[in-house]
Amino acid sequence: MERFFMKKPNLKTAGKQHPAPSKRDPKKQVASKFLQALAGKAEKAPPVWLMRQAGRYLPEYRNVRVNAGSFLDLCYNPKLASEVTLQPIRRFGFDAAIIFSDILVVPHALGQHVEFVEGEGPRLEPIKTASDLNKLSVSDSGRRFECVYEAIAQTVAGLEENTPLIGFCGAPWTVATYMAEGGGSPDQKAAKLLAFRDPQTFGALLDLLVETSSAHLIGQVNAGVQVLQIFDSWAGSLADNDFASFVIEPTARIVKLVKAVHPSIPIIGFPRGSAAQYRTYAAETGVDALGCDTAAPLSLMAKMQGKLPVQGNLDPLLLLTGGNAMKNRVKAILESLSSKPFIFNLGHGILPETPIENVERLVSLVRA
Ligand code: CP3
Repeated sequence: MERFFMKKPNLKTAGKQHPAPSKRDPKKQVASKFLQALAGKAEKAPPVWLMRQAGRYLPEYRNVRVNAGSFLDLCYNPKLASEVTLQPIRRFGFDAAIIFSDILVVPHALGQHVEFVEGEGPRLEPIKTASDLNKLSVSDSGRRFECVYEAIAQTVAGLEENTPLIGFCGAPWTVATYMAEGGGSPDQKAAKLLAFRDPQTFGALLDLLVETSSAHLIGQVNAGVQVLQIFDSWAGSLADNDFASFVIEPTARIVKLVKAVHPSIPIIGFPRGSAAQYRTYAAETGVDALGCDTAAPLSLMAKMQGKLPVQGNLDPLLLLTGGNAMKNRVKAILESLSSKPFIFNLGHGILPETPIENVERLVSLVRA
């Protein structure tokens, strides 16, 4: 493990060069529905934000995107990343913003080749062996993360005080699936085969991701984010013993490392596709709130609210559809969940073809 850290990330100072602007007094308690829900308070109308709320369904995003160069150029341009983060807040007045970045900035910062091919998604140089893994190092990661921290500082300066900014990372398992495969995969085959055939190398990869992701989350908090979310998009494809080793254990280590520096930062875990494991995940990772995907039964989410606030879980395809189909499901979700701590969201990211008027209608239904 030690060999990766030629220059160890400094967990206390990362992102500190970008202090949240003085306009905000960190001691002042500002009414934020989102922070209150995370603190365990129920609201009559729950707070609402949407995963991937900055993105191609917005004409103003597409406009910035065509002039920004590549997707990664946009991620690393603090002024433009901050601008696209603020766009959905201006348009819809969501209760939280999420910094525009990507989970794959972590492997990129570790020196893995990452690019986004237009219309295809991410392409990485795959990690197949211990020697591929040994080429990665954190020595240069600070430079790329600094762009994200600068974007965070600029975004916080542009947000009203009652709209918290969310920072994030991918969970080690999900990021490892992209790193091992060299891109997205329907079955996470390359990561599983690496884990099963060469557990030592796969373990070292997860360790590297735990350490780098924790440092990156801490850097984001130092730069001004008020909430964190850990995206585990591919958590749902694992047997129970592997779920324990590859999802729960690394996530628990990240939560512990981050909380050692920022004990009161709320962390939302999003183990997509893992409703059967929610109880164990919530009890053993130490996350403060549970992000639920579309397939999670509302009755289970309501039960989980006895333990922690839940977030979710409208089907993104119902948001795309709109009309009564969307309205009826929004009503069912609110009836089941809004009397206890709840954050309205989708069950997965918003789709690029989503009509803007459906998003407007959704926000007014949730707030009605
Ligand atoms: O939610 C937000 O608005 C914040 C920004 C954000 C992005 N990606 C921007 C993005 C967040 C939180 C992510 C997380 C992310 N990235 C995940 C986890 C959540 C999930 O969706 O499961 C994953 C798996 C990735 C990796 C990734 N990034 C893929 C597979 C793709 C290609 C698919 C696609 O939609 O094009 C991306 C690209 C990406 N990340 C886009 C955006 C807005 C689209 C890029 C474009 O503008 O062309």
